[in-house]
Amino acid sequence: MITEIVYFWSGREGADDHMRTLIAYSSTLGCTEQCASRLKADLGNGVEMFRISRRRRINLLDYDTIIIGGSIHEGTIQRSVRDFCENHLEVLLKKPVGLFVCCTDPEADENRLIEIAFPEELVEHALASGFFGGELNMKKMNLLQKIMTRKAARLQTEPEIDFQKILEFARTLQEA
Ligand SMILES: Cc1cc2nc3c(=O)[nH]c(=O)nc-3n(C[C@H](O)[C@H](O)[C@H](O)COP(=O)(O)O)c2cc1C
Repeated sequence: MITEIVYFWSGREGADDHMRTLIAYSSTLGCTEQCASRLKADLGNGVEMFRISRRRRINLLDYDTIIIGGSIHEGTIQRSVRDFCENHLEVLLKKPVGLFVCCTDPEADENRLIEIAFPEELVEHALASGFFGGELNMKKMNLLQKIMTRKAARLQTEPEIDFQKILEFARTLQEA
């Protein structure tokens, strides 16, 4: 009996150890990458990060859970993130999925942001979705980007990453 119980628990642990999670993201100036790293740490073992790029391929079937994130520029998420979602939609709809965005608009509505950023079917399917705030990383911006974000940069409160939201997102996915 005792042997059976020990076997049962060790079997479960073994299964969890092999669970693999992918965080696929795009980051123009580094903020989303920072959020993805923090999320990886919050989720614990078995998590890999993948920077979305047209030149790099990945087999999503190798992963149990897939998280996709990007940032909002001129009102929309990176084209590469949308393409990634659309190209892999069939597989994504069969797996647990989490979606997140970064941006600096203090009045942004989380649900609206997610709806704008990702395909409707994927939004409906996702187990967790989150808006993690954002940063205006002036040091990494080129002149055009500085001009485009001049108004936002004058805001009284400096935008920042919401680390609590990242932790809550991780917990939601783990408990789902
Ligand atoms: C050129 C440019 C345009 C942006 N447009 C928006 C926007 O339309 N709405 C918004 O809330 N934030 C906007 N932002 C802020 C970014 O979403 C924010 O800096 C985010 O943290 C960037 O993440 P990343 O470094 O991963 O690309 C813009 C930033 C830049 C540089």
